[in-house]
Amino acid sequence: ENGMHAPHQDWDHRAWNKTFDHQSIRRGYQVYREVCAACHSMSLISWRNLVGVSHTEAEVKEMAAEYEYEDGPNDQGEMFKRPGKLSDRFPVAYPNEEAARAANGGAYPPDLSCIVKARHGEEDYIFALLLGYTEPPPGISIRDGLHFNRYFPGGAISMARALYDEVVDYEDGTPNNASQLAKDVTTFLTWASYPEHDERKKMGMKSIAIMGILFGLSIWYKRFKWSPIK
Ligand code: HEM
Repeated sequence: ENGMHAPHQDWDHRAWNKTFDHQSIRRGYQVYREVCAACHSMSLISWRNLVGVSHTEAEVKEMAAEYEYEDGPNDQGEMFKRPGKLSDRFPVAYPNEEAARAANGGAYPPDLSCIVKARHGEEDYIFALLLGYTEPPPGISIRDGLHFNRYFPGGAISMARALYDEVVDYEDGTPNNASQLAKDVTTFLTWASYPEHDERKKMGMKSIAIMGILFGLSIWYKRFKWSPIK
């Protein structure tokens, strides 16, 4: 059985000539870090990927250094701990899938690196899912440890509602109601799935401009060449 079709949202980045809202990516990273990262990893994303996208290099270096990474072996053949650096991947929520399942009643919180690409409905689905928790309809009972969500295929999801009004405090004064938090974290996850998005659109604009000029020139040239024959 399928979940309800997620309503289409008016994402800034969906317009053919618009890039991502990078302030929203920045806030969305904060939501991911403070809420989702307790259970979900993003193991394909490195700290350096944030530089120039949502944060400055100095900010990201500081953020990475707050985590400890195992490295080595050194010259003595020993492993050692060191602070994170730009080239490290994001820290993982659990050491392996078994540990993740053990902590989540048997369910596996999927890696979010490519989740927007991986789900039908893409960012509309993720946004709807995060806010889609309600009481089950009359006559439907939900097993202990599961939660009713009309957008989740099957309707019963192991993830409890994670986003409530004001669970994250924004530094830029943006209202932090649940739907704003969902919008921002979804924009962040969309960027993670499509990091080439802005570059692709800028390249598209350039090629349209250049092709337009070349087309105009070819019309002029054709008229010029054919004018003695007419
Ligand atoms: C599943 C996103 C927070 C535990 C999922 C899925 C997404 C997601 C997109 C996949 C749903 C699907 O398969 O279609 C998020 C986001 C979060 C968040 C964006 C933060 C805002 C959390 C937290 C926990 C958690 C804090 C643990 C307390 C799980 C589990 C599943 C899951 C166990 C598997 C559900 C199932 O297959 O039934 N989450 N999540 N999530 N999440 Fe989260």
